[in-house]
Amino acid sequence: MITVESLTKRYGGLTAVDHVSFTAQPGRVTGFLGPNGAGKSTAMRVMVGLTEATAGQATILGRRYTDLPNPGREVGVLLDASAQHAGRTGREILTIAAKTMGLPTSRVDEMLARVSLTDTEATRRVRNYSLGMRQRLGIATALLGDPEVLILDEPANGLDPAGIRWMRDLLRDFADAGGTVLLSSHLLHEIEAIADDIVVIGQGRIVAEGTIAELLASASTRVCAADVTALATALAAAGHEVTLTPDGAVQTDATPAAVGELALAARIALTELRASDGARLEEMFLELTADTQRESRLTDLEGAA
Ligand SMILES: Nc1ncnc2c1ncn2[C@@H]1O[C@H](COP(=O)(O)OP(=O)(O)O)[C@@H](O)[C@H]1O
Ligand SMILES: [Mg+2]
Repeated sequence: MITVESLTKRYGGLTAVDHVSFTAQPGRVTGFLGPNGAGKSTAMRVMVGLTEATAGQATILGRRYTDLPNPGREVGVLLDASAQHAGRTGREILTIAAKTMGLPTSRVDEMLARVSLTDTEATRRVRNYSLGMRQRLGIATALLGDPEVLILDEPANGLDPAGIRWMRDLLRDFADAGGTVLLSSHLLHEIEAIADDIVVIGQGRIVAEGTIAELLASASTRVCAADVTALATALAAAGHEVTLTPDGAVQTDATPAAVGELALAARIALTELRASDGARLEEMFLELTADTQRESRLTDLEGAA
């Protein structure tokens, strides 16, 4: 279990992480989704003690990372796969990590097999690895100490669709065995393919969270009427779920066709009717990404001025 409580990190005038709170539960894969610059890596660096929080805290299995007696045995970490020591071979990197953690070298071979790096690949220098191979090696390093928790920053970066599928299966097995997984990505489809729960972050703040099912499968209809109360009553009477949106519309699980028929029968004049077809998360994410791009364009313009 990872618990993040009102975590805030400022760099000078920039608030990179702004009162972020969430938990990543054991037995679940939690996706940390946000466009570039949203604050994912910063939050993860605080979680693993590489950066101090300005305020708030993150605990892993109830303790701060720096208070864990043998962190490598409790938390597997993959931060920046390109930061691995380029001059060493994959096998050397794993062997050194195993010695540091007091593990037998047999564990190295187990992990190489687990991430499907062949003997030949393992004896190549990491500078000659593809990004995908580096990610596999990074995962092998994270798994080495047989931890209960995994914290992986953009681990699917550089993996092809087969690689992403492989990672999903690996993380699924890890979570099914009771482990906690937190992984970040700036790509919605990667998170959709891998995570059970999602925490969406934009400009340092959490903007949505829930299970994949909740966030994706919220197929619904948006409808407005001159008499919203009459409409809501008619829909509820027919057994549909009804929520009022802040802008005075009704959101319901009834199809647009069913809403139209109900409204006709109840003689309610509709002023708007459309399906909001489960693409809520995608829409929100595109909006976030667009906001970020607008901001960076503004910054560029300001820089040029
Ligand atoms: N060491 C640092 N010093 C100053 N600003 C930083 C530092 N690290 C990250 N930032 C800024 O914090 C924001 C969040 O960055 P980051 O956590 O890397 O986002 P993400 O991983 O979601 O892409 C960005 O605006 C980034 O430029
Ligand atoms: Mg990052």
